[in-house]
Amino acid sequence: MHVLVTGGAGYIGSHTVLHLLAAGHEVVVVDDFSNARPTVVSRLEELAGQAIPVHSFDVADIDKLDSLVTELAAEGRPVEAVIHFAAFKAVGESVAEPLAYYRNNLGATLAVAEVMVRHAIPHLVFSSSATVYGADAPVPMTEDLPTSATNPYGWTKVMNEQVLRDAAVAHPWLRVALLRYFNPVGAHPSGRIGEDPSEVPNNLMPYIAQVAVGRREQLSVFGDDYDTVDGTGVRDYIHVEDLAAGHLAALEWIAGHDRALSVWNLGTGRGTSVLELVAAFEAASGREIPYQIVERRPGDIASSYADPTRAQTELGWRTVRSVEDMCADTWRWQQANPEGYPA
Ligand code: UFG
Repeated sequence: MHVLVTGGAGYIGSHTVLHLLAAGHEVVVVDDFSNARPTVVSRLEELAGQAIPVHSFDVADIDKLDSLVTELAAEGRPVEAVIHFAAFKAVGESVAEPLAYYRNNLGATLAVAEVMVRHAIPHLVFSSSATVYGADAPVPMTEDLPTSATNPYGWTKVMNEQVLRDAAVAHPWLRVALLRYFNPVGAHPSGRIGEDPSEVPNNLMPYIAQVAVGRREQLSVFGDDYDTVDGTGVRDYIHVEDLAAGHLAALEWIAGHDRALSVWNLGTGRGTSVLELVAAFEAASGREIPYQIVERRPGDIASSYADPTRAQTELGWRTVRSVEDMCADTWRWQQANPEGYPA
């Protein structure tokens, strides 16, 4: 298939691009590089052994997006599927700048969906999040739980899902997959591409990796009085390579089935606490990770992990990489790129 990948230079997008190319799909990337480095592209080309067409603009710019899709069709490379990653993703920032989050994350999806309808492009894989299960969901989380959110970022995911549900009703030829990611971590086994937060990391794994490599002094563990195995927060960490494989499986599934809208959790089904992840990273890196216990972070929940049964059964996809693999691959990337991608 000819696949347009929005946000293809980002963390999850870049890993997915390699999986698409390896499976023989043709890829065109659109990314505005607001949260990605141009170096990613040369690294991807080196790993893929081929040139990758990249267009640098904001996908919310519907005229530019429409022109690109028109041009590709005229060149005999009509877009048949879109994987839409491009979005802002920092929870705290979304609380401080809700309007920017709604404008960016809704505007991008509206433009993507509208251009797809105009050009009769049927297949869409959308990056959603386990955050749509809200604050009080029971674990393990199944896809039929009600959705809600605790912050503007989360609401943009809930709202985008609704936009796409409505579009799939009105245009029943659409084939939409909503993928609800749990906690993506890890890096490509080459150590050439990985997660590169532009500022102080919000998320646990990149923070631990930066402590291990000496960029930060110590980790703050946000609370040790949750009702969990050791009192620290439990999450379902999923290796970005397994997640990328999940996108390929979802895309190929929707292309072969007549269902307008599909929702799949992408997680391992296993929970790991903060202190368990710290211990696993210490073992993988041979470095000590100093930490201190601090107050709970507002908005955090005790436990979040997937029931991945539906994706396993329908897609025939399952995760194969362990927490040890996640730590080893993150460490390889962090050691080789202590300051992230070169500017
Ligand atoms: N944590 C720390 N210290 C840190 C960072 C995190 O103790 O410096 C803890 C958190 O309290 C939590 C766990 O580590 O218990 C994981 O936190 P992350 O920030 O890595 O991940 P979250 O589960 O909070 O958030 C992630 C994504 C969000 C998404 C959410 C739910 O970052 O985009 O999952 O799907 F909304």
